[in-house]
Amino acid sequence: MSQQTTVSAEQLRAQFGDMSLVAAMNHGREKRAYTHTFGCQQNEADTETIRGMLAEMGYQMTDSPEHADFILFNTCAVREHAEDRAFGNIGALSHLKKQRPDVIIALCGCMAQQEKNVEKIKKSYPQVSLLFGTHALWRFPSLLRRVLTGEKRVFDIGGADDIAEGLPVLRGEGPKAWLSIMYGCNNFCTYCIVPYVRGRERSRRPEEIEAELRELTREGYKDITLLGQNVNSYGKDLGLEIDFSDLLRRLNDVPGDFLLRFMTSHPKDASRKLIDTMAACSKVAKQLHLPVQSGSDAVLSRMNRRYTAGEYRELIRYAREEIPEIVLSSDIIVGFPGETEADFEETLRLTQEIEYDLLFTFLYSKRSGTPAASYEDPATSAEKQARFERLLRAQDEIVARRQAAYQGKTLRLLVDGESKNPDYPFTARTEGNLLVCVRGEDIVVGSFIEAEIEKTSLRCLYAQKR
Ligand code: SAH
Ligand code: SF4
Ligand code: F3S
Repeated sequence: MSQQTTVSAEQLRAQFGDMSLVAAMNHGREKRAYTHTFGCQQNEADTETIRGMLAEMGYQMTDSPEHADFILFNTCAVREHAEDRAFGNIGALSHLKKQRPDVIIALCGCMAQQEKNVEKIKKSYPQVSLLFGTHALWRFPSLLRRVLTGEKRVFDIGGADDIAEGLPVLRGEGPKAWLSIMYGCNNFCTYCIVPYVRGRERSRRPEEIEAELRELTREGYKDITLLGQNVNSYGKDLGLEIDFSDLLRRLNDVPGDFLLRFMTSHPKDASRKLIDTMAACSKVAKQLHLPVQSGSDAVLSRMNRRYTAGEYRELIRYAREEIPEIVLSSDIIVGFPGETEADFEETLRLTQEIEYDLLFTFLYSKRSGTPAASYEDPATSAEKQARFERLLRAQDEIVARRQAAYQGKTLRLLVDGESKNPDYPFTARTEGNLLVCVRGEDIVVGSFIEAEIEKTSLRCLYAQKR
């Protein structure tokens, strides 16, 4: 039995009705919208849906908030820093709202889904006239219509864990596209706010995902990333005989020349079957983002990650054996409550053993409402900062070595844009998603090329088209 619920056709029709109403109100006027996205790819994908709805309602997109009639911040709550930046951005707009009272300032996303932030916005940020949470995204047209027809402040953080299909999407330029395959998270890692602001896991139906992929390939997208907080639990709520590996195989059969990436994989659910599927599917990029968070079993257990460092190492060993060219990346939290110097050394040792191509390191940020917020946290911030810097230095050495090993190799690249470097005027990605600056004759954005790596740096490979 399927537990997942879908927004009904009738509810969606009401939203399309409101889109037409707003479009009629905007008809003949030059209305502009500005959006700013904080946080992860999921948020970027959500913003593209909001921009799709805005376009449908007659708004032109602009890169400047000063020229916009509608300003939206899609926010992230994962670390305090992200929240502070969002509040700072909204605060900075109070003068604009005074100069142009008609401008609509809106806030949505993960911060907006939290009661404490809603209260703060209500009290201290009167310039915000529209706020909606992650569950109300599909109701945006109705909420905007209410603001436009005179309601002073519209706040909506209600709604259930349901899926809305068929909303318009306005994607960015270039060959890359996000494709959400599921929403929410059930894992409740003890440091993490995401399950509280994104709700429970729910998977889109495979035929909807496949149809969207076919549409994307028809539109010329070539670098498509399947999104979910833990893609490896895809399908568990559908009551169908399909898991994430099966979905990958199905999508790999869609005709066309494109790359499929996916994120994020949780190590407790990433299996040998997944690695075998990656190895067997020609369109699945040989790239795996597998966040380990810590190399210490004691810390992993307190984080509620439900794997050991040994199990993690074993999976990486298998992946490298099956797919020698695989590009590996990870996330690490430094300074989780109770992390000792010895725990940290284990994390350092693990990263030095595995040698990730790319590592995202974060200082632990206390999130109220999560279990870890009440854990004892004796290490000082100076100690944590010192660990953080040691890890960065060690990782830089690894990356320099790994990047240098590409020197002289010929790789297949997807050209994805123009660079600011006149000597290498285009940017491209390897199949493993490494950044490359390229030069050569007849380079076209959106095409696959063969190129030879001429030199390397920490952040970029430099290549000549063959
Ligand atoms: N679902 C994904 C991504 C979650 S958020 C996953 O499980 O990997 C992205 C990263 O932010 C996490 O992997 C983690 O490393 C980091 N993160 C999450 N909560 C954090 C916190 N409270 N403090 C510091 N980093 C955090
Ligand atoms: Fe957060 Fe863990 Fe879920 Fe990732 S898997 S979103 S880290 S709770
Ligand atoms: Fe941030 Fe929400 Fe993503 S909290 S990391 S934007 S799911």
